[in-house]
Amino acid sequence: MPNEKDEHVNYQKSFFDQHVDVFKQDIPADVEERSAEIVRSILRNPQSERLLDVGTGIGAFIRHYVSHGLPQENIVGCDLSSAMLAEAKRRFPAVDFWEGDVLNFPDDRGKFDIVVFNACFGNIFEPFAVIERVSNLLNPGGRIVISHPCHSCIPQLLDLEPKLVLRLLPSKEQLVEWCTALNLRLSVYRNEKDLYLAILERDVADRAVS
Ligand SMILES: C[S@@+](CC[C@H](N)C(=O)[O-])C[C@H]1O[C@@H](n2cnc3c(N)ncnc32)[C@H](O)[C@@H]1O
Repeated sequence: MPNEKDEHVNYQKSFFDQHVDVFKQDIPADVEERSAEIVRSILRNPQSERLLDVGTGIGAFIRHYVSHGLPQENIVGCDLSSAMLAEAKRRFPAVDFWEGDVLNFPDDRGKFDIVVFNACFGNIFEPFAVIERVSNLLNPGGRIVISHPCHSCIPQLLDLEPKLVLRLLPSKEQLVEWCTALNLRLSVYRNEKDLYLAILERDVADRAVS
């Protein structure tokens, strides 16, 4: 019998499998500008960093990573939806994609310098468990990024699609609590009308990744 979490994951998967065409539409210029601003804030040494893009969709953010100097070969994209991933693979053939729930992301893809949740963190059923999982995938000095370039859309989505988007993005207090539990540091927190950006960092001297 599927439990509440499995039902949520199955709903997400079937929703996004059926809505790929919506994501293929042109993205408004102001959203693209804020997306580029987010990517500029998170990349430090793009030629050498490895990045996991969680909820990658059709790869809307991969385009920005690549245009800011991150090679496709340094990127792994993770998503539940096979239809979204099929389009992402067509667009970015050298990126490594993994299909499934990020909570089950395997260790065999190695460690990452950056793990990004763009425009998907409110859809996650167990946010702390997911942050804990990806914190174990971080290199020393690595960071977890939660972002949204269309932050003001979230309250509307909560009304329109309450089974899809479960909650608002985390408050500063919530993130500080998670950071304390996981030995991370909240280095950036921008909770603005249209842009949300939070960066949770592992210390460079912290090699105690399990
Ligand atoms: C609104 S789309 C955002 C896509 C992309 N990040 C962007 O910026 O356009 C959310 C994506 O997150 C994926 N997703 C939701 N929950 C997930 C989970 N637990 N694990 C992996 N992917 C998930 C969905 O399948 C969907 O493709």
